[in-house]
Amino acid sequence: MRAPAEPPETPRTASGRPAPLEIEVAPMRRRHVRAVLAIEQRVYPRPWSSALFMSEISQRRTRIYLVAQAERQVVGYGGMSVQADEGHITTLAVVPEHQHRGIGARILYELAAAAGARGTRSLTLEVRVANWPAQRLYAWFGFRPVGIRRNYYAETGEDALIMWVDDLQGEEAAARLSRIHRSVELRGRRG
Ligand SMILES: CC(C)(COP(=O)(O)OP(=O)(O)OC[C@H]1O[C@@H](n2cnc3c(N)ncnc32)[C@H](O)[C@@H]1OP(=O)(O)O)[C@@H](O)C(=O)NCCC(=O)NCCS
Repeated sequence: MRAPAEPPETPRTASGRPAPLEIEVAPMRRRHVRAVLAIEQRVYPRPWSSALFMSEISQRRTRIYLVAQAERQVVGYGGMSVQADEGHITTLAVVPEHQHRGIGARILYELAAAAGARGTRSLTLEVRVANWPAQRLYAWFGFRPVGIRRNYYAETGEDALIMWVDDLQGEEAAARLSRIHRSVELRGRRG
């Protein structure tokens, strides 16, 4: 995955908690791409182009791309390519003002569940070595660090951590995903 731009502070209410947000997750369609690009340009220093997203979402047999919407506005998205029984998370992003509200976890949960339903056995991704929030999220999903790709991010020369989950069809993964599902559902209700 690409290296994100520096995240701005997430605005919070006076109580310190963001207001509840009703989130719906749906397949990414052409009509979503403009809103996706607007987020993309805010969170990544080297944003993907419209053509790249269009190409990705047109390959329905080997790609899973989802958007999270709140009041019909796209607030996050994620994608995966699936080859044989391996899924590669290619992108995951949440609009800065709605980060830390469980939306990233919800999208990742839906991606993992969709991949699992297709028979995918393992998931992998690359994440910037300094991107702790994303790494914590992935660790919660059972991703473990397995190696480093040196100078993976051309724009900064930063290294990428390669992370894997290799038991997606196992009982432990099912239990983990079900715990995560309960947690993101509850969080959605509480805000
Ligand atoms: C990474 C990114 C997608 C995460 O999205 P998000 O909506 O902020 O993520 P969530 O709110 O679901 O955050 C993860 C949550 O999982 C939960 N979580 C993480 N680890 C957990 C654990 N071990 N146990 C329980 N909950 C855990 C926490 O509730 C955490 O929320 P917090 O950050 O408020 O503590 C978002 O920060 C982003 O868009 N960043 C810029 C782009 C980017 O870096 N993409 C990833 C590239 S690899």
